[in-house]
Amino acid sequence: MRLSQLVLQNFRSYHEADLALQPGPNVLLGYNGVGKTNIAEAIGYLSSLSSHRVPHDPPLIRHGASQAILRAQAHRGSQEAYLEVEINPGRANRARINRGAPVRSTEILGILRSVLFAPEDLELIKGSPSVRRRLFDTLAVQMRPALGALRQEYEKVLRQRNALLKSIRHEGFTPTHESTLEVWDQQLATTGARLLKTRLEMLAALRPHVAEAYHELSESVRTARMSYLSSLTGHDEDAEHAQTDPAESSPLESAAAEELAEQLLAALRAARKKERERGITLVGPHRDDVHFSLDATPVKGYASHGETWSFALALRLATYRVMLDDDPAAGAEPILILDDVFAELDARRRRRLAQLATGAEQLIVTAAVDDDVPEQLLANAYRVESADQLSSVVPLSGSESTTGPSDD
Ligand SMILES: Nc1ncnc2c1ncn2[C@@H]1O[C@H](COP(=O)(O)OP(=O)(O)OP(=O)(O)O)[C@@H](O)[C@H]1O
Ligand SMILES: [Mg+2]
Repeated sequence: MRLSQLVLQNFRSYHEADLALQPGPNVLLGYNGVGKTNIAEAIGYLSSLSSHRVPHDPPLIRHGASQAILRAQAHRGSQEAYLEVEINPGRANRARINRGAPVRSTEILGILRSVLFAPEDLELIKGSPSVRRRLFDTLAVQMRPALGALRQEYEKVLRQRNALLKSIRHEGFTPTHESTLEVWDQQLATTGARLLKTRLEMLAALRPHVAEAYHELSESVRTARMSYLSSLTGHDEDAEHAQTDPAESSPLESAAAEELAEQLLAALRAARKKERERGITLVGPHRDDVHFSLDATPVKGYASHGETWSFALALRLATYRVMLDDDPAAGAEPILILDDVFAELDARRRRRLAQLATGAEQLIVTAAVDDDVPEQLLANAYRVESADQLSSVVPLSGSESTTGPSDD
C-alpha cells in the first residue's frame, strides 16, 4: 500500500501542504517542533480516524481554523482511491471517496492501512489503560472497518447512559429512570459485546506475533505474554492493581457475541447500585485493559527501560504482521511509519526495524538529523521547515524540485 500524494489543510501546524510521496522510503528531516510528526500523524489518521498522540480530534485542527482537511491519493496494487476527510470540531466528521458525495467519515476505514512506530509507544506499556484500548481498537478498525461506526454508536450510548446515571444520582431513582436505563443497558450490552468480541479477536491474533517479535528484538529467553482484563469479569480500573498473574487466555475469548452481551447485561445489573452512587457506567469495554508480562512478571512497573522498549516495538511489529496475515496480497502491505524511532534504539533493534522497513512498499521516516537514519533510506528526503509558525515541506532530493531557502 502507498500514498502518492498527501495534502494537509489546517491540520496541526500546516496551513496548506501538498506532498508528492514516492514508493519506498520517504524521509522527513527538520528541527524539533517543525511539524514532522504532524505528517506521520496525518497518515495514521487517514487509516484509523484516530491520532496516536491525542484521544480526541480538536488539537488536530490548526489554531484559529474552523476545520482541518486531509486528502490523499492511495494505491493498493493497481487499485486507486482518492480519500478526503474533514475534521470538524463539535460536529460529525465527513469523508469523500473518489470525489464523490460526502459520507460518514467511517466509510474510509479499511482503504488505507498503516502501522506507526513512535516514541509515544512507551506509553503503551507505561500509560493508562485508555492507551492500550486505543492500540487494539486502532488495529480493529483498520481490519474490520464496520467497527468504526459501531464504536461511535457505543460512545453515544455510553454518553447518554452516563447522563442518565448522573441525573439519577441528583434526582433519585424514578420508574421512568428505571425503564430508560433498561433500554440503555440493552444497547450498551449489544454494541459493547461486539466491540469486546473484536478486541478479543485482535488480542488472539497479536499474541503469537508479539511473543515471536519480542524474542527477535531482545536476547531474553522470557516470553512476552498478554491477557485481557475485563470489567465483565471483575476488573476494576479504579482499584489498586493486584499484581497477580492473570490467566493468559480468558474464557471470554471463546465466547460468542451473544453470550458476551448476556454477560455484560448481567454485570451491569450487578453493578447498578455502585453505578447509581457514582453516576458513571462501570462495566463495558471502555473500562477494560490488557495486561502485559514477561513470563509471569508484569511489564508495567517491573520491566527495565530496554525491556519496555522491546515490548512496545514487539506490539507494533506484531500489528504489522497481523495485517499481513489478514491481507497477504502483493501491494496490500501497510504503510510503515517510523516517527523518530531510530535515535532511540540500540544496534540490534535498529537492524531489526531496518529489515522490516525493506519489506514495506512505502516507508515514512522522520528524524531531526540525517545521522539518525540508516544511509540506505536517505534516497528520497524532504526538509520540513517552519516560518511564521506555519510549517512547509520542501523536497531535498532531485535538485530541480528544491525550492525556497532550504540550503544549509
Ligand atoms: N492545532 C495546532 N495548531 C497549530 N500548531 C500546532 C497544532 N498542534 C501542534 N502544533 C504545533 O506543531 C508543532 C509540533 O509539530 P511536530 O510534533 O510535528 O514536531 P516534530 O517536527 O515532530 O518535532 P520533534 O522533532 O520534536 O519530534 C509544535 O510547534 C506545535 O505547537
Ligand atoms: Mg516528532
